[in-house]
Amino acid sequence: MKKVLFIVGSLRKGSYNRQLAEIAEKKLAGKAEVNELDFHTLPFLNQDLEYPESELVHVIREEVKQADLLAFFTPEYNHSIPSQVKNLVDTLSRPVVPNDYSSVVIKGKKAVLFGTSGSSAAQFSRNTLRELLTFVGAEVDPESFGHALQKEEWISGALSLSKEEDEKLDSVLSDALAF
Ligand SMILES: Cc1cc2nc3c(=O)[nH]c(=O)nc-3n(C[C@H](O)[C@H](O)[C@H](O)COP(=O)(O)O)c2cc1C
Repeated sequence: MKKVLFIVGSLRKGSYNRQLAEIAEKKLAGKAEVNELDFHTLPFLNQDLEYPESELVHVIREEVKQADLLAFFTPEYNHSIPSQVKNLVDTLSRPVVPNDYSSVVIKGKKAVLFGTSGSSAAQFSRNTLRELLTFVGAEVDPESFGHALQKEEWISGALSLSKEEDEKLDSVLSDALAF
């Protein structure tokens, strides 16, 4: 069974992206082994403090190393990705062994992108993340899923997918497992 590592880009308790990740996790039950990356306390990357690798950075890099697929669920902030997601990818783009770029854990890693936001359906953040991940050597599934939050969802705080979106999510998930 493939190991899928979920990366939820929102720090918010009631996050719609977390709700999307929870729906996806249910859909993957019995089809993949899902774990979530705990990176929300990762400090900002500081090259003065990179080596030796901290325990937290070590654990994060090991989890990424062991995953067959990274599944990002990310909001959109000002047509881009939240800074915590950029910081994570920057950290993953650095070599574990100083100057040995063959030790970069994100290189060659497969990734798939999901996102929910306001009217753009996280299209800009997914595009930005695709560019960034491709630049650092990950392989990003061309298929991706976005959902634009509707008025009722903003009011209730609950994510709600249409039948078509639910089917699209199924399709992106199965495509990603075969990717
Ligand atoms: C700083 C900030 C900037 C935002 N910029 C955008 C944006 O450019 N496009 C958009 O569709 N939504 C934007 N939003 C709305 C968020 O994408 C939306 O609140 C989303 O639900 C946050 O994800 P979460 O519920 O998982 O925390 C922005 C929100 C914040 C806080």
